Amino acid sequence: MKPLKVLHVVGARPNFMKVGPVHRALEATGAAVSVVVHTGQHYDAKMSDVFFRDLGLPEPDHYLGVGGGTHAEQTARVMLAFEPVLLDEQPDLVLVVGDVNSTLAAALVAAKLQVPVAHVEAGLRSFDRAMPEELNRLCTDALSDLLFVTEQSGLDNLRREGVPDAKVHFVGNVMIDSLVAALPKARAAGAVERLGLPPRGFVLMTMHRPSNVDEEAPLREVVRLVEALAARLPVVLPLHPRTAGNLARFGLRERLDRIPALHLVEPLGYLDFLGLMEAAAAVVTDSGGVQEETTFLGVPCLTLRENTERPVTIAVGTNELAPLDADHVAARLDAILAGEGRKGEIPPLWDGHAAERIAEVLVAWRRETSNVSS
Ligand code: UD1
Ligand code: UDP
Repeated sequence: MKPLKVLHVVGARPNFMKVGPVHRALEATGAAVSVVVHTGQHYDAKMSDVFFRDLGLPEPDHYLGVGGGTHAEQTARVMLAFEPVLLDEQPDLVLVVGDVNSTLAAALVAAKLQVPVAHVEAGLRSFDRAMPEELNRLCTDALSDLLFVTEQSGLDNLRREGVPDAKVHFVGNVMIDSLVAALPKARAAGAVERLGLPPRGFVLMTMHRPSNVDEEAPLREVVRLVEALAARLPVVLPLHPRTAGNLARFGLRERLDRIPALHLVEPLGYLDFLGLMEAAAAVVTDSGGVQEETTFLGVPCLTLRENTERPVTIAVGTNELAPLDADHVAARLDAILAGEGRKGEIPPLWDGHAAERIAEVLVAWRRETSNVSS
């Protein structure tokens, strides 16, 4: 039997740590060959290249260079650039991860060319269609032939939407595979010492969702929140390019520059960010993936959103939702520092081996589909 040819698609920061383990696990089977396509949705060295180094990913075989734009522009550009690559490579399967525009665009191109699609991190739902990611998740799952699920809610959602059980595989969380593999290197990288931070005595913060940073009023409240947090503990805030751009646009950057206990830094590499996350007293974020990583690490996490597509991080883990209200969040930090944070446990199958389970399913799928076609 010919090896299974998998075309992996990555585009944005949260994709790299999800594709890495699957790529490695497939190589380890000896029954698959991989091609990596980078759409270029994220293109700054600090949003892309550093992750290839930190995660030991192979250089992409194809770089599409799509960059930013409106949702339609970005999605369409990925589709236009991806189609000829797909026609040329003729893979047996396209593997997409997460919920960014590149994920949906690649899945749609593949499905229309009748190339089977596997979606890693399927079934997550925030039930908030104002989030672009929710539309990407719904459509990608509808187009996928193999759906790999990280938590029970994903199974429940897909079943309710009528996706046949045979397509759905509860394998655990590949993002946690990357975390487990990288943790020793992250500790050795020494970001906590380099920034002169007291272990368990600082807050790590990320903020990039359009609902929190695209308009002036919420972004002002984010700045007020940083001031309130930094009045209590040192704060590390690596600035996402969307947030950096909007702070400059609304003239708010100078207010942050004046906060003495704030480490306002460029986006951090994976190892540095992971090292800081593990040592933080608490994390304040609106990220999807950071909610999961803090749950695994047992670090209290305040997520400034009205909902989450990752409810296991609340039901089982250390995550809690909070409104974008500086006074409220500062009070929640005080409670955490007083020992009232959520203790949490590690969700089922978040054990560092999710990608191996995915590789097993894919190799078995290959066997079944080639029996049917021969
Ligand atoms: C995207 C994803 C979001 C994910 C986030 C992770 C979608 C719809 N959104 O949001 O789900 O949580 O990535 O970080 O896919 N920019 C740069 N340099 C870069 C990348 C972006 O300057 O390397 C700037 C550009 O001006 C760009 C803007 O940031 O237009 C937004 O980037 P984009 O990828 O469109 O959305 P994100 O907010 O990064
Ligand atoms: N991350 C990082 N450096 C940073 C911020 C985040 O390495 O400065 C990592 C984080 O550990 C997680 C991933 O990026 O693995 C999450 O990406 P992001 O928050 O951009 O996207 P989301 O998960 O919200 O889609």
